[in-house]
Amino acid sequence: MAQEHVQIFDTTLRDGEQVPGCKLDTKSKLIIAERLDVLGVDILEAGFPVSSPGDFNSVVEISKLVKNATVCGLTRAVENDIKVAADALKDAKRPRIHTGIGTSEFHIKYKFNSNKDAIIERAIAAVSYAKSFVKDVEFYAEDAGRTDNEFLARVCEAVIKAGATVLNIPDTTGYCLPEEYGAKIKYLKENVTGIDKAVLSCHCHNDLGLATANSIAGINNGARQIECTINGIGERAGNTSLEEVVMILRQHPYLKLDTKIDSKLLYSTSQMVSDLMGMIVQPNKAIVGTNAFAHSSGIHQDGVIKNRETYEIINPHDVGVTESAIILTARSGRAALAYRAKNIGYELEKLQLDKVYQEFLKLADTQKEITDKDIPTIIKASNIGLI
Ligand code: KIV
Ligand code: ZN
Repeated sequence: MAQEHVQIFDTTLRDGEQVPGCKLDTKSKLIIAERLDVLGVDILEAGFPVSSPGDFNSVVEISKLVKNATVCGLTRAVENDIKVAADALKDAKRPRIHTGIGTSEFHIKYKFNSNKDAIIERAIAAVSYAKSFVKDVEFYAEDAGRTDNEFLARVCEAVIKAGATVLNIPDTTGYCLPEEYGAKIKYLKENVTGIDKAVLSCHCHNDLGLATANSIAGINNGARQIECTINGIGERAGNTSLEEVVMILRQHPYLKLDTKIDSKLLYSTSQMVSDLMGMIVQPNKAIVGTNAFAHSSGIHQDGVIKNRETYEIINPHDVGVTESAIILTARSGRAALAYRAKNIGYELEKLQLDKVYQEFLKLADTQKEITDKDIPTIIKASNIGLI
């Protein structure tokens, strides 16, 4: 089945790094950038070069290092930002400048004390100036999620005429509902003259836990780029999680949309970013959390032991996790205990298992989890003569 390509724009090193307390030095950024390139991201946002000499330097070094991905630098709609970004990107094989301005009433009135026409003028000027340095210019309409669609369409049309190749429609505050965000993308597809000259991009924040759902709604309505981060890290509640959108498309092939991410590297990449940033991954995080493939209730364990697909929609190997885990707790059943005992060399017959299971429950009620080390002790205590 022919799949249409959705570009993955990774912003772990820019929006992701805006997490308080998770700043990365250039060395760590280079390690992550190299991994993201191997993972198969299409675009790698390396930083915001004007923001600090350290960030400038990181963008310079990442530009030299990255072999395949487009390397992108963020700017405001300010000449000096754009000039500095162009400078930082000069060694990139495929440089992209990402410039933009706030377009919602909140931003126009309170951030810029400006008006709609003046915002459009600044947007055009920024894109035109960025175009004087690089071919590939992405424009972001900050707070597009709360920008009225008619004005957003005017902005998009103007920046396409000025040469923007990608239109980023950020739900900066994570406010939109999926149907609302999807309808916004559809509206732009249907109402912006010249829209076929540009790629629409989803950049969704997770303030209401809807970043992934909104991004999928965006691509289902014609966007073809998703901006995301490893582990969904980012400002406040974070950004769209890369591993989630990639696996949603893989697990739903009838959508006929796919990325070129090597999904087998997802788990190790998640761990790498978590270690280097000192930011743990919540255990129940979809795809890469330690519990994502762990089963602890008896009913689920029995099903998974008979056939993994009874309770798993993703093969753990596909995301680089060695195997599903059968965790032994007081909620586990005989099937799980027999399975774990067999794994360490104890084959239990039915009557033996009944006895061992009684001992197991006694211990399981006193501790959170029963480990491989506890199993021989339980078998011995059950007096079945095996040990
Ligand atoms: O969330 C946002 O609006 C952004 C832009 C700067 C692209 O991160
Ligand atoms: Zn953002």
